[in-house]
Order: sequence, then structure tokens, then C-alpha cells
Amino acid sequence: MNLVGREPLIINNTLQHKLTKDMSIIYEEKVGSYLGFPIILHDGTLFGTLCAIDTVPYSFDDEEIEIMKSLSRILTNYLNDNIGLVAFSKIEEERQLEKVEAIGKMASGLAHEIGNPMQSIKGFIQYVFKDSNHNKDFQRIVMNEITRVEELISEFVLATQPSSPVIQMNNAIDVILPSVERIKSEAYAKGISITCSLEDHLPIINVEASQIQKVIMNVLRNSLEAIEQEGSIRVVAYRDPFHFLVIEVSDNGRGIPAGIIKKVGYPFFTTKDYGTGLGLSVSKNIIRAHGGTLNIESVGNGTKVSIRLPIAIEK
Ligand SMILES: Nc1ncnc2c1ncn2[C@@H]1O[C@H](COP(=O)(O)OP(=O)(O)O)[C@@H](O)[C@H]1O
Ligand SMILES: [Mg+2]
Repeated sequence: MNLVGREPLIINNTLQHKLTKDMSIIYEEKVGSYLGFPIILHDGTLFGTLCAIDTVPYSFDDEEIEIMKSLSRILTNYLNDNIGLVAFSKIEEERQLEKVEAIGKMASGLAHEIGNPMQSIKGFIQYVFKDSNHNKDFQRIVMNEITRVEELISEFVLATQPSSPVIQMNNAIDVILPSVERIKSEAYAKGISITCSLEDHLPIINVEASQIQKVIMNVLRNSLEAIEQEGSIRVVAYRDPFHFLVIEVSDNGRGIPAGIIKKVGYPFFTTKDYGTGLGLSVSKNIIRAHGGTLNIESVGNGTKVSIRLPIAIEK
């Protein structure tokens, strides 16, 4: 909901208030009451609005309004004291996105230029090896290598081009569980346990299920690769108070050194000998296209990846 203004806004009944009664989001997201406190920095910039919503009209009492007011004051002071840091990370993020966009343009050109010759090479290879039985092994190797290059190109494009998912309503649980199941045998073979703790009645999300499963598998595979031998991975899913589904994957693997954590997730950043450095950038791109976020952080002795996706329907 975007009700940005410079004054605090308290709407007890959104269905009757002139600002909100015609907004479709009120009905889609079942917003009954709304509180919004602007965060205005010392130089007069409107940084954003701290807001709270409830499904029921007239649900915020005076005490809750006071709490929100105090929270917005604390946040304003914090931001004023640390604005250098906030502004820097925003500029940095924008710069990185511009870079990815530029690489993206190059990627689609390159994909086309390499993709077409690949198709003819494939055709000729099949023709050349057609009548020679003793060279079947060579044929298999060449075809596998070509497939690897093709996959790499398509991952490259996926990582850098804006993706447009074909969205359908899906039960969150039906998206999460199959991805975990698929990776379980790989995990057990390495002596790694995967535990899953999913909140009851997970909501419905509007997503392209196969894309979100690809993301979860990318993240799980990174966890598997981060654990030398034996270890554990934990998958948790719950709803947060902001109407988002949160999927967290935590592992107790080698962790990510503080010096490189900012680089993780940008195309081609890898610390692995045989890594492509595309898994997390593809994943971030997919989640962004679904209106969500993907964050990576170091926790205790390992790593936690949190995926947030907007909830379509509560159950
Ligand atoms: N769970 C994790 N634990 C430790 N490091 C991780 C984890 N996930 C990602 N990383 C770091 O992020 C880098 C980029 O990951 P990714 O984009 O999937 O590419 P790749 O797996 O091909 O290296 C990895 O090379 C690794 O250094
Ligand atoms: Mg990876």
C-alpha cells in the first residue's frame, strides 16, 4: 500500500476512508485498518513510511498508536545517525543492478551467437558418428559437453535477464516439500541430515512452482557443498507479520567470510573450483520477479538463506 505523505495517517476503517475506499488492494489483501508514520530525515527527505495494518477495522487502540509513534521516532533517529551507511548501501545496490543489467544485455547477444552454431555442431556430430559404432563413447562425451555449454548459457541468461514467471496459485507446502525430497538422497549419501519444520496451514502463493523449486534446490545444493563431511541442514517455513511467506535454509557448513558476503549472489562470483557462480544470482532474479527477496547471512557456525514471497491467500 502506498499512502506516502509527510503527516502520520491513522485510518480506522479503510472501507470508508476517502483515501482508501477505492483501492483494490484493500479488498485483495483484506486491510481493515491502517497506521502509517512517515520517516523524515534531518535534511527533510521523506525516507519512507513505517506502517501497520490489520484485517479488522478499528483494531488499533491508543496504546498501540503510541508504540508505533515511538518506533517511528527510534527508526528516524537511527537512520539519521547512520544515513551514510544506508545511502552507501543503496547506491552500491543500484550500481550492482546496473552492472547486472549491462551483463544481461551482453548475455542475450552471446546466447544467440553461441546457441546457433551449437545447434549445427550438434547436428554434424550426430551425422559424423552415425555409422561408427566404436566411437559411441566419444559421441556421448561430445554431446554431454555441448549440453553443459548450452545449460551454462541458459543459466547465464536466467541470471542476468529480467525473468517473467508464468504464475499460478500454489500451496506453499507443495512447492517446498518436493524440492527438499529431491535433494535428500544426495544429502544422505554424504552423511548430511536435512530436517524440515514447516508451520501448519502454510498459505497459498502465486508463483511458477518449478522456478521456486529451482531456487530452493540451488540453495540446498550450496548448503550440501558447504559441508565437508557430516553436518545438518534445516529448512523452516512460516508466515511473517507483513503477509509474506518466509522459507529459511540454514546449514552448519564452512560459512561465508565477512569479507566476501557482499559479493555472494552476483553473477560469476564463486569460491569453488568447479562452480559457475550463477546459482544464487539466478535464484535472486527469480525471487525478485515474484515480488520477493532472497538474503544470505552468516549465522553462528554456518549460513542462513531467507527467501520471502508475498502470500496470495491465507489458509
Ligand atoms: N550455504 C553456503 N555456505 C557457504 N558458502 C556459500 C553458501 N551458499 C553460497 N555460498 C558462497 O556463495 C558462492 C556463490 O554461490 P552460487 O551463486 O550458488 O555459485 P556456485 O555454487 O556455483 O559457486 C559460493 O561459491 C560460495 O562461496
Ligand atoms: Mg551454487
